[in-house]
Amino acid sequence: HRHLLSVADLNPVDIAIIFERAEVFLKRNRTPDKSSDGLRGLTVLNLFFEASTRTQGSFEMAGKRLGADVVNFAMASSSTSKGESLSDTARTLAAMQPDILVVRHPATGAPKFLAEATGLSVINAGDGMHEHPTQALLDSFTLAQRWGSVGGRRILIVGDILHSRVARSNIGLLNILGAEIRLCAPPTLLPTDVDQWGVEVFHDLDAALVGCDAVMALRQQKERMTGSFVPSEREFFHLFGLTHERLEVASPDVLVLHPGPMNRGVEIHTRLADDPEISLILDQVESGVAIRMAMLELIGTNIRKGYGS
Ligand code: CP
Repeated sequence: HRHLLSVADLNPVDIAIIFERAEVFLKRNRTPDKSSDGLRGLTVLNLFFEASTRTQGSFEMAGKRLGADVVNFAMASSSTSKGESLSDTARTLAAMQPDILVVRHPATGAPKFLAEATGLSVINAGDGMHEHPTQALLDSFTLAQRWGSVGGRRILIVGDILHSRVARSNIGLLNILGAEIRLCAPPTLLPTDVDQWGVEVFHDLDAALVGCDAVMALRQQKERMTGSFVPSEREFFHLFGLTHERLEVASPDVLVLHPGPMNRGVEIHTRLADDPEISLILDQVESGVAIRMAMLELIGTNIRKGYGS
């Protein structure tokens, strides 16, 4: 692989290799000797056309721990704000001879466009409502660290599925890994083609939670909501908010995930978010650095081998 644009780029063997390497990095990142030189000599450009805390920070840290030169372009203050097209931005950046572009953009397909326009290796760090493949990898990796494997587990994704690239990538990856996937949302926050996604759909959270091994909560992506019915935050918490009480019908060892940024008291009760027995939210962040190190190393190795796309 020279790119990671979608979870569909991955097969179970690729995923196993990435998880095995991420486990090494996860352990090494807990020691004072975090650095290696797997990417020495290569340049990683972080191009974030949308806000990010976790993804941008962890890609920067991952690249630096692997010895790469990492450059963060703050796209909000770049020349795109002066009317430069994405195509001209791509050609300009490619002329600086970087090796890997990490791209977050509000438009579906922007990372693929940049891969084609520049000929460089591209990692999709979230494109519109489409995909966020490294988030799905880190979510399944976090669960696999607890369970050994996600295959055969019942996993519920609850919240704003319609606007969620995290949900789309997780559904794709969990299907590859053989998990049983449930979705729960109001009909207005589900896509119209959801019956073709290989998932079980619920509108009632208490019914959806029965027997679940893990639950992923999603925030309402108000920045992408145009005209669709949006429940008030109080109503959303009442109908779809995760609480300890609601989890009583789930598996006794149920685990809770949230990709962040989370809105406490809207999609998750604040006490549950901070419960170290149940909440994996900070484990996900820690896994994010390890998974991104594994992904950057894999792509860097293939760049060195001179693989074509
Ligand atoms: N989960 C996630 O993508 O978070 P950021 O938007 O902070 O990167």
